[in-house]
Amino acid sequence: MKRSIVITGGAGFIGSHVVRLFVNKYPDYHIINLDKLTYAGNLANLKDVELRPNYSFVRMDICDFDAFHALMQREHVDGIIHLAAESHVDRSIKDPFTFARTNVMGTLSLLQAAKLYWESLPERYEGKMFYHISTDEVYGALTMNCPEGVQPPFTTTASSTQHHMAYGTEFFTEATKYNPHSPYSASKASSDHFVRAFHDTYGMPTVVTNCSNNYGPYQFPEKLIPLFINNIRHRRPLPVYGRGENVRDWLYVEDHARAIDLIFHRGTPAETYNIGGFNEWKNIDIIHMVVRVVDRLLGRSEGADLDLISYVTDRLGHDARYAIDSSKLQRELGWEPSLQFEEGIERTVRWYLDNEEWLNNITSGEYEKYYESMYAGR
Ligand code: NAD
Ligand code: TYD
Repeated sequence: MKRSIVITGGAGFIGSHVVRLFVNKYPDYHIINLDKLTYAGNLANLKDVELRPNYSFVRMDICDFDAFHALMQREHVDGIIHLAAESHVDRSIKDPFTFARTNVMGTLSLLQAAKLYWESLPERYEGKMFYHISTDEVYGALTMNCPEGVQPPFTTTASSTQHHMAYGTEFFTEATKYNPHSPYSASKASSDHFVRAFHDTYGMPTVVTNCSNNYGPYQFPEKLIPLFINNIRHRRPLPVYGRGENVRDWLYVEDHARAIDLIFHRGTPAETYNIGGFNEWKNIDIIHMVVRVVDRLLGRSEGADLDLISYVTDRLGHDARYAIDSSKLQRELGWEPSLQFEEGIERTVRWYLDNEEWLNNITSGEYEKYYESMYAGR
C-alpha cells in the first residue's frame, strides 16, 4: 500500500463520510478507522465499505497512548486525520470532564505517540501529516448587527452556491483570536493549541481546519437537523432554544469531506484553513424549511406540523452567531461548497426518511433516556 492512514472517529458522522471518500478514492491507501464506539460511533455508517481490502477498523480509545503507539509501529502509519471527539455542546454543559479527557488529553496522546514513532524513523517527519479537524466554535460568537440579513461584503468564487444572507458584518477568519464559550469549544480550542505547539516545538507537520456546522446523512439525532426530522416524523415537540434567532453557517457534510481530502494532500503544513458554506441561517428559518420538506415527503399537508414548534429555555451561554469566511481555502486550493442549502436539506430529509431502520436502531433503548433527561424541565 502506498500510504497507511489512521482516521480517528471514523464511525461518527463526519468521520464516516471521510472514511468512505478515502476508501473509494484511494484503493492504494490502507485506511484504518480508529474509533472507541461511544454512543456517537456506529459501524452501520460504513456498511458499504467495511469489506474493502484497503479498509480496517480498530476499536480503540484515543487516550490509550500505548495502544496507539503500537498501532503506528505495526501499521507504519504516515498520516493521521483526527476527528474523534465528544461533539455535542449540550452534553458538554452537563459533563465537561468527558470533553476535556477525550478532546484535550486524547489529542495530546495521539500527538505524543505520533512524535515518538515518527522521530524514530530515519526520514523522521518527511512525508508525514497530522491533520486535526476543529470547529468554528473556538472563535466564540459574532454579533448580529443586521438581523434581517444582508449581502456578505467579501467576494467569493462560490457565488453559485452561496446563500444570499449574512446576519452581521464580521466573519471568522484564520486570524480571528480564539474566544471559546462552551466547554465543548473550550476543549476543542485547547486541542488546537496542542496541535500547533507540536509543530512549533518539534517540527511535526500539522494542519488544523475550523469548519462550520455540518448536516447530512448519518448525523446522530441529538443535533438540530436530524433530531427535528425524527421528531416531526413521530409528531413529537420540536424544542427551539430561546427565540430561535441564533445563526449558524451550514455546510453539507460531503463538501466538508472533500475539503479534508484536498487539505490533507495539498494543504501547507502549519497552516490553518477555515471551511464554511457561506450559508448563514437562523435556526427558526431552518426549522420551518425542515418541517415543510418532511411534511411534503411524508404526504402530509405542507406546514401542518409547524404547530409542533415549542419554544423552550435557552441553552446556557448560547452563542448568537457563527459565520465563517472560507475564502482562503477557495483562493489557495480552489475548494467551494457544491450544494445549495435547499437541495442539501431535501437530500438529507429524504435520506433519514429512507433509512428508518438506521434511525430506529439509534433512537431505541438508551437514546430514550438521553432524550428525556436532556429535555426534562425545559
Ligand atoms: P460525532 O460525535 O458524530 O463522532 C465522533 C466519533 O468519535 C464517534 O464515532 C465516537 O465513537 C468517536 N470517539 C469519541 N470519543 C472517542 C475516544 N475517546 N476514542 C476514540 N474514538 C472516540 O462527531 P462529528 O459531528 O462527526 O464531528 C467529528 C469532528 O469534527 C469532531 O472533532 C468535531 O469537533 C468536528 N466538527 C464537527 C462539526 C459538526 O457540525 N458536526 C463541525 C465542525 C467540526
Ligand atoms: P446543534 O446542532 O447542537 O449544533 P451547535 O450547537 O454545535 O451549533 O445546534 C444548532 C443550533 O440549534 C444551535 O443554535 C442550538 C439550536 N438547537 C435548538 O434550538 N434545539 C435543539 O433541540 C438543538 C439540539 C439545537
